[in-house]
Amino acid sequence: MESKKKIILTGDRPTGKLHIGHYVGSLRRRVELQNEGDYDKMYVFIADAQALTDNIDNPEKVRQNVIEVALDYLSAGLDPEKCTIFIQSQIPELCELSFYFMDLVSVSRLQRNPTVKTEIQMRGFGGESIPVGFFTYPISQAADITLFKATTVPAGEDQEPMLEQSREIVRRFNHIYGPTLVEPQIMLPTNQVCCRLPGTDGKAKMSKSLGNCIYLSDTAKELKKKVNSMFTDPLHLNIEDPGHLSGTYTDEQGVEHEYQNTVFIYLDAFCEDSDFEQFLPEYKNLDEMKAHYMRGGLGDGTCKKFLYNVLNSRLEPIRQRRAELEKDIPAVYDILRRGCERAREAAIETMDEVRRAMKINYFDDADLIKEQALRFKKK
Ligand code: TRP
Repeated sequence: MESKKKIILTGDRPTGKLHIGHYVGSLRRRVELQNEGDYDKMYVFIADAQALTDNIDNPEKVRQNVIEVALDYLSAGLDPEKCTIFIQSQIPELCELSFYFMDLVSVSRLQRNPTVKTEIQMRGFGGESIPVGFFTYPISQAADITLFKATTVPAGEDQEPMLEQSREIVRRFNHIYGPTLVEPQIMLPTNQVCCRLPGTDGKAKMSKSLGNCIYLSDTAKELKKKVNSMFTDPLHLNIEDPGHLSGTYTDEQGVEHEYQNTVFIYLDAFCEDSDFEQFLPEYKNLDEMKAHYMRGGLGDGTCKKFLYNVLNSRLEPIRQRRAELEKDIPAVYDILRRGCERAREAAIETMDEVRRAMKINYFDDADLIKEQALRFKKK
């Protein structure tokens, strides 16, 4: 029964608007995958129920961001004709499957999940205050993936423990009930720089609370301001000085810091040779530009202006599509509703198979009833 089909599935928690870190890390690749068409089905979903597991004090944030993320998806190029976009909470079969999966995982196995461990620390949940739903979200995530028989889950490295847990659950289920579900594999980003784009301040990660994000929905003006304030090489004071792509510097307190020149990290992630032709014809490619920067004589202002042009040329079409979509928000909800309907068809089909495998389809299997009737007759 193991299906040979390639089914792609991935999703995001709607806890904020998507930023260019999401774009290079996942969204851009999803759009490519969608357009390459090398799959039987593709699902992208908004994990609102999972977002609630650690935002129970702020359900309104989750609700507002469902539509923001949907707008980001559509404006970045996800096409509802090619890829089913749906909202997790609208698929009740997910709860049903999770309910049975809960019997296949031990508490200690969940406690060992490294992603959950770090997240518990990050959220500052003390041992006493961890919500059960949060603690068990790897189980519900296994249901997200397997209910749609996903073979391929494009996601970051941090999601590998979730995939491992999902495969264990599938193996256990199939061992007990017979081959029914499909073991999913992760599809990691191909480009290392794209895995974790730092914030504009050079800090490890873009995060809303640090205010260091460039959003897909930023205007050209906001983009320019953010690029101009970006962290570069703190030692590059005069244009003639040699510049550094990374290094260490000592602050006023005498503490040494490692740094990376954020402008060049972004260029690594975004720019292509053709951008030079268009915006900076002095160089053929990024290597030539970097060499000049390190030699000295290339100012941060020029680099930032180039980066702005590159980013803006990527974001402008996204911005335009977003502006169109924002004119008719009910139509966007319609797209989501249709996506949910399509996703449910698949969900219902798998749940039927699951119930049949578990032999809890009491009322639609005449043989099950006959078998019991026979058993009692013999007595
Ligand atoms: N946990 C993922 C995140 O934090 C979101 C997610 C939920 C997901 N269910 C999924 C991703 C299923 C891939 C597949 O980003």
